[in-house]
Amino acid sequence: MSIYQIFRDLHSGFRYIVFLLVLVAIIQSLLGWLGNKPYTELNRKINLFALISAHTQLLIGIVLYFLSPLVQFNSGTMKDPTTRYFTVEHWFAMIIAIVLITIGHSKAKRIETSAGKHKTIAIFYLIAFFVIIGAIMAGHLPVLGS
Ligand code: HEM
Repeated sequence: MSIYQIFRDLHSGFRYIVFLLVLVAIIQSLLGWLGNKPYTELNRKINLFALISAHTQLLIGIVLYFLSPLVQFNSGTMKDPTTRYFTVEHWFAMIIAIVLITIGHSKAKRIETSAGKHKTIAIFYLIAFFVIIGAIMAGHLPVLGS
């Protein structure tokens, strides 16, 4: 197994950890916000682990960017939907999502009230989640190949 394959499988598998943690963070923050619940230590830890998982995926992605044969810089890159997706679109969308998670997390830290913390996490993580799902789905759309 090459270094490329190891990083590709790691990055591909790690998506599920990011999904799961971000999803749990969203659900608990929605329940906390709408149910007017206190912001607990467990809430804080799950939100933090979701942030850490996104940052870890970013680091693995950066390494993969330099290893992947799907990332190319030549005159045909933008014409081929696969190379365009991985060279330009994928990382751009994912970085937007990771920035949203990072901003949401640091904003929530500075807010005093439990409701405000839950609300901030819910909104930022939810938008980030849709960006991630949208980006992955875009990479698989057959229409991109036409
Ligand atoms: C939350 C962040 C991210 C998630 C969830 C994610 C998820 C994925 C997934 C699921 C794939 C497999 C292909 C697919 O099914 O679309 C993939 C491939 C790839 N990702 Fe990411 N990614 C993230 C961030 C990044 C970042 C920030 C970079 C680069 C800086 C990056 C670079 C790549 C590359 C180069 C591939 C192609 C691997 C190959 O050669 O097959 N990813 N990513």
